[in-house]
Parts: sequence; structure tokens; C-alpha cells
Amino acid sequence: EKGGHEYFMLKEIDEQPEALANTLRGHFDGGRIILDEQRISDQDLRDVDKVFVVACGSAYHSGLVAKYAIEHWCRLPVEVELASEFRYRDPVLDRATLVVAVSQSGETADTLEAVRHAREQKARVLAVCNTNGAQIPRESDAVLYTHAGPEIGVASTKAFLAQIAANYLVGLALAQARGTKYPDEVAREFAELEAMPAAVQKVLSTVDQVRDLGRRIADSKAVLFLGRHVGFPVALEGALKLKELAYMHAEGFAAGELKHGPIALIEEGLPVVVVMPSPKGRAVLHSKLVSNISEIQARGARTIVIAEEGDETVRPFADELIEIPAVPTLLQPLVSTVPLQVLAAEIARTRGYDVDKPRNLAKSVTVE
Ligand code: M6R
Repeated sequence: EKGGHEYFMLKEIDEQPEALANTLRGHFDGGRIILDEQRISDQDLRDVDKVFVVACGSAYHSGLVAKYAIEHWCRLPVEVELASEFRYRDPVLDRATLVVAVSQSGETADTLEAVRHAREQKARVLAVCNTNGAQIPRESDAVLYTHAGPEIGVASTKAFLAQIAANYLVGLALAQARGTKYPDEVAREFAELEAMPAAVQKVLSTVDQVRDLGRRIADSKAVLFLGRHVGFPVALEGALKLKELAYMHAEGFAAGELKHGPIALIEEGLPVVVVMPSPKGRAVLHSKLVSNISEIQARGARTIVIAEEGDETVRPFADELIEIPAVPTLLQPLVSTVPLQVLAAEIARTRGYDVDKPRNLAKSVTVE
């Protein structure tokens, strides 16, 4: 059942190209993005004037990624909220608010309560879920299923990538409803998404290099992760993976925050993983990160750089370089997350921990 893999998580990492392809399949037809269930009218979707994404853990990180895409494609304000915070605040919601609830299991207690709270306030709820007929989609006005297949490993991998893809589809569905993207532009964005399974497959060929690195840094006390723009949620996800699997102190930061505190943590030999944006995307983002890396390297950090293949500028500052294929900026999390999953799993394995069942954690958090 583990298909020759030592752990389910490693199998699930390998299944990511297929999980992405399955999630995209059937969601674009006749030139339009299609949801699985839609109990709200097209008019209601068109009238949405604010989006909240609510979720927990990795699903929350997938929402942070979505914010960049939805704001850009739909020109709508997007707030991303931890479900456990959202539900105990007094968020401003009305009929024109779309709440996107992202949950692999569809049973997470806090996310479910956030959905109930949103509906009481008359907001519309769209669920992004990996489990057919789970409670969250049952209580939502619209549903887009990720088709990642069952995920056994407690650490989310293929479900996380599928959530990112599904959130992009939600963004495109909104852009199509609002007319902020022409049909041919929606089709082009979808075609770019369809190229992602092959790009992820390519990243999987670097697994041996990443595992070797994982073994070499397995006795570190802490690891920091830095990113900007969509690379920031990837940094948070990389840190979460390492905490939950390797029980190691790990923090993800927005690289622009370094000078506002975190740079004080840098000491000789501290591994710092940096998620580089494409040099062909927004030049300013790339150059800002190059200067961040040079600053932390000068202070003794051991820099582990995830960068687009052919990015020569970054080479002198990378003590370890992990190359990922060139993809559009907004889609980069789908490739840059993969080495971080492998890294965390290998560090955990080297430290002798059960990669599929980390201590103190359950796959689905149905109590608060
Ligand atoms: O089933 P859900 O997507 O609602 O679960 C949310 C989180 O509990 C989950 O993503 C958790 O953070 C994972 N263990 C992370 O790897």
C-alpha cells in the first residue's frame, strides 16, 4: 500500500503531479471554470465585494498563497484568517462577502465553526475540500473538491498542493464571474496550471540531493525559512513541516522583516532556507532577496537557496543550491514547496522519528 515507499508521506510527495492533474481535471469545460457544487447564483458570485479565506495549519498557508492570485486576478480585497481567530472575532461580513473555507478533511472543528458563523452573518461560503460529503462542504453554498486522493501521512503534502491549485481555480472562477479576466485570459491561466504537474515531476528528480542535505543538517538546533511575496507562505509551510515532523525549532519569515528583528537570530552555521522568486518575474523582489541572502551569509548563516534553474546571480550566496524549474511567479509555490517537504521528512527520518505519525498530532483536528 505504500507502493515501495518507506512512509506514506514519501509516497504522497511522489503522488503530487497526479494529485494536481486530478484536481484540475473537470474544472474547466466549455471555456469556463466549473465548481463541483454551486448553490449560489452567478449573479451572487459577480456581486462579491470581499473575500475571506479561513483555514488552519497548511490549509491556511494555501490561503495565504491564494491571496496574491485573487487580489491580482479579481481586484477584490482578500483577508486570510486562521479559523480559530476568525470565529472568536467579530469579522465584518454580509451577503456580498465570500468566505472560502479550505480543509483537506472537511471536518476541522475551527473551520467548520467559522463556516457556521459566516453563514449566520449571511456571507456566502465556498468550501475547498478533499473529502467528498464531509461536514464543511455539506454546510457550504458552493464546493470545489481537490482530488488529491486520501492522505494518510499526518503532514499535509499532496493535499496542500491540491489546495493551492483549487484556490487558484476559485480565483479564476471569481475573475470570470466579475469579468476582470476575459475568457481567453482565464483559458491561458488554466493552461499554465495544467503545465504544473510536469513541473512538479521535474522537482521530484532533485529528491536525492535534498535528502542528502537533510541528513547533513539533521543535528541543527533550529532552521529559519525566508521568502517574499508567494514565497513567504512557502517559508511558513516549510517551517511548519519541520516543526511537526522533526520536532525542530523552525520559523518562517517574510524576508523584508529580517531587519525588524529576526536577523538577530542569525549565528554561525544556522541553516537558513531562502525561497527565491524568479529572476524573470518582478526584478525588485529578486534583487531584494539577493541582498537579504548576502546579509545573512555575512553573519555566518548557512544559506540553503531554492532558486529557479539558471539563476546565476544567486549562486555566490548559496552554500547549498536547490534548483526548481521556471514557472510563472504566482504558481511558484507549487514547485518550491516540494523540496521543503522532502527536507523535513528526511531530517525527521534521520532523527529516528515516525514520519507518518508525528507525536501529539492527529490527522484531523475535530476538537478545538
Ligand atoms: O483537514 P484540514 O485541511 O482542515 O487540516 C488543517 C490542518 O490541521 C492541517 O493542515 C495540519 O496543519 C497539517 N498537519 C499540516 O501538515
